[in-house]
Amino acid sequence: MAPLTTTSDPHVLVLFGARGDLARRKLWPGLRRLAESGFMPDDYRIIGSGRHAPDDGFIQALGDEAFTKRISFVTSSADDGEDLARAVREAREALGERSRTLLYLSVPPSAMKPMVGMLGRTGLDDERTRIVLEKPFGSDLASAKALNAALHEHFDERAIFRIDHFLGKEPVQDILALRFANGLFEPIWNNEHVASVQIDIPEDLGLEGRGSFYEETGAFRDMVVTHLSQILGFVAMEPPETLDAGHLRDAKAAAFADLRPFSPEHAVYGQFEGYRDEDGVASDSRTETFAALRVELDNDRWRGVPFLLRTGKAMAAGRRVVTVALRDPAQLLLEADGDGAERPDELVVELTDDPRIAVELRVKRPGPTLVATRAAMELDVERATGGHGLEAYERLLIDVMHGDHLLFTRADEVELLWERAAPLLQAPPEPLPYARGSWGPEAAEALAGRCGWRLS
Ligand code: BG6
Repeated sequence: MAPLTTTSDPHVLVLFGARGDLARRKLWPGLRRLAESGFMPDDYRIIGSGRHAPDDGFIQALGDEAFTKRISFVTSSADDGEDLARAVREAREALGERSRTLLYLSVPPSAMKPMVGMLGRTGLDDERTRIVLEKPFGSDLASAKALNAALHEHFDERAIFRIDHFLGKEPVQDILALRFANGLFEPIWNNEHVASVQIDIPEDLGLEGRGSFYEETGAFRDMVVTHLSQILGFVAMEPPETLDAGHLRDAKAAAFADLRPFSPEHAVYGQFEGYRDEDGVASDSRTETFAALRVELDNDRWRGVPFLLRTGKAMAAGRRVVTVALRDPAQLLLEADGDGAERPDELVVELTDDPRIAVELRVKRPGPTLVATRAAMELDVERATGGHGLEAYERLLIDVMHGDHLLFTRADEVELLWERAAPLLQAPPEPLPYARGSWGPEAAEALAGRCGWRLS
């Protein structure tokens, strides 16, 4: 992967949705930390934007004086971006010829396309401008294509950065390192040795005040067609020729092209009890807050291996776990003695801030009998590397400022995923109720087959 450097051209960063939830939780703190740790360009300005001006003191609360003196706020909307365009032009002039604009669209899916139109009309689409978009990049194939077409009217694909913050998480990139920097796993990374793959991202949190966004989106669009599918891409792709953005994204797109269409028969949707009472949620809402799917790839490497995807709100735990389960030997000579020894060998990657990678396997239980019990070989990545990496959004913001697309999704990938998702979007399963703090509707258990979900 390209080394991170601290220097890049002077930048005017424009943050649309600057008063929104994502900006508050991730973008402003991320930018502040980048500034504190010397990752921002030597010269930069940040213009927050949104339909309404913030309260007095908003900017001062974002950090210390050295940081906040570079920040201003200009209102804009899809209908009116003139003031903003003027402010950006002035800032660019002040920063000189080499300066660039980074436009960050943290706006609801339905506002994306109109905003892109406004950027074009006001001339905010010059060739030294890069645009960052938040998922889910449309809500089906037709709208994704329309959004991509609108983007391509104004921006070259090289200027477009579709952010999927899971790809910025250190442990997701560990999947690449595990597969492509070691001799241990790649030889067994196929249907001869792998029995199933689980990508399981239960969340214990509820809506966190994002009711109206969530009503429009639902678990499948919010998480499955985006984060979980991207992780699937990293797990399933053929080894790319190199780890540069072009080859990696070609390999990922090829894996998506091999996905069989997602079938409603192999999907279970759920809705947590009490969801309809949340602010911004319709009293008869059919939005799913839980989705579990079994999908397959139709290629020589993976034919016959189920990929199990599961995520949901208000579940029993907040975890992000990728489990690659290996086939058992033809004859199991040691009897299993409980303690999980009935489970096959599993490579487990926990995509947490404190990454955990483990191979869980059977060992002999100490004692006079030859019976198997379960043990784990753990790799403490953090201790091995001596500390934390960057937070996902921080890493990705640096990549945008350097024009590196490695961890961003390309138009063709997005369209392929929406296309594979079409049968499910056309005939979504009825969401089944589940209790808060549970593992979702019982019907989802059956999808996982004999060994069940690793988390339960
Ligand atoms: C976001 C989704 O993209 O990812 C949220 O919109 C979800 O609904 C979040 O909670 C999970 O990300 P993280 O990094 O907090 O696990």
